[in-house]
Amino acid sequence: MKMEGKGLKLVLLASLLLNLYQSCSVFWTTNTGPRPGWSREASAEAEAAAAIPCSAHGRAFLDSLVVDGAPTCECNTCYVGADCSELSPDCSADVDSGDPVFLEPYWQKHAASSAVLVSGWHRMTYKTTGDNFISVELEKHIRRLHAAAGNAVADDRFIVFGTGSTQLINALVHALSPDSPSSSPPARVFASAPFYPVYELQTDFFDSREYEWEEGAASDFANASNGNFIEFVTSPNNPDSLLRRSVLGGSSVIYDHCYYWPHYTAIPAPADGDVMLFSNSKISGHASSRFGWALIKDKRVYERATKYIQLNSMGVSRDSQLRILKVMKAMLAEMKGEEGVFEFGYATMRERWRRLSSLVSSSNLFSLQQLSPQYCTYFRKIRDPSPAYGWLKCEMEQHRDCEAFLRSEGVITRGGAIFHSDSRYTRLSLIKTQDDFELLMLKMEALINKETSHTSF
Ligand SMILES: Cc1ncc(COP(=O)(O)O)c(C=O)c1O
Repeated sequence: MKMEGKGLKLVLLASLLLNLYQSCSVFWTTNTGPRPGWSREASAEAEAAAAIPCSAHGRAFLDSLVVDGAPTCECNTCYVGADCSELSPDCSADVDSGDPVFLEPYWQKHAASSAVLVSGWHRMTYKTTGDNFISVELEKHIRRLHAAAGNAVADDRFIVFGTGSTQLINALVHALSPDSPSSSPPARVFASAPFYPVYELQTDFFDSREYEWEEGAASDFANASNGNFIEFVTSPNNPDSLLRRSVLGGSSVIYDHCYYWPHYTAIPAPADGDVMLFSNSKISGHASSRFGWALIKDKRVYERATKYIQLNSMGVSRDSQLRILKVMKAMLAEMKGEEGVFEFGYATMRERWRRLSSLVSSSNLFSLQQLSPQYCTYFRKIRDPSPAYGWLKCEMEQHRDCEAFLRSEGVITRGGAIFHSDSRYTRLSLIKTQDDFELLMLKMEALINKETSHTSF
């Protein structure tokens, strides 16, 4: 009997312990989420990819091509080999696209403050914390960023998020077009040359009864202030990096301020347009996240733009919003300090511009746009130019197509005709990798030396 009682007690104890274990695991997985330490594997995986040696001319990502079970290096242009250490001979310098990868070293240095770990169940719903699919925290941080940079009046403005500012271009054209296109003529969409070509390409492509692209120079539209115009004003401008104002003086202006940040220009005063467009791609360099926003004064315009985004994509990817929130927090934490992103961006771009402009001015072959030092309210001093793009002119009579001439000499640029300008001009992107910039300098130096030695005979 005694033994039986003891056995019973043991069975009871074992079942109690089992129950306790089971309720603990149910508690961990249902009440407080998964077991602590669940993120270790993801973090180790991310660190392993970042540690793959790609010399200083490439990097491996978690989603890079996998060979033999490990991600492989993605090399900078003209660099090849498993670790990107070989410079490919006779490779052309490529300064065509406006890919803002010059900020990559900044984020590699700020790896800890900018990394964000996305759990498998992170915000699976369509819902966000705010109306119209926007994250309230991200909205707050955007307003803080504008206040810290002093580049735009963001208080008392509505915000619309877009999948890149690219999505917002047509959303804003729609929002500013007539409500009832059947009873009023279509809005005439205009930008003065040279201008970013996507405004025209989208307006023509989305081809609506509400609006149409208007060819011509500002002087062709003497009575534009009375007409039904939507004018794009890009300031600083892409391609020539000049600060611009409206030339038509009409009531509907979309100010594209993608480059109105202290890396690229002095900030003389906060921008205060009724409709202003911004792109995270050019601020933090995360073009891949496809995130942009518009600040809008008028409620009706805001509602029309919001409806467009709702029907077009049901808002911006929530994963992107999470990543950009983290990046904005990291930028704000370092603002105005030695480690600031604007400080890094300005120093890099100023140095590139100094080197390029001094090389160009050493010959009569080319000229660049004229930019002068200007007082900047962010840096609280007069600062040197640091544009995103060089707008290069071929000065020799025989080089009528500047882009073709440079291409034949191993420099890939974006020709003036694309920006509705003269083909004597071409755009050099200065915001790509340091390797791209160094190759550009090498090729331009060789070209200038060759041409000057020809003419001196
Ligand atoms: C003037 C201008 N606006 C808008 C964009 C689009 O930027 P994103 O769609 O990456 O925000 C660009 C990109 O180069 C640009 O130069």
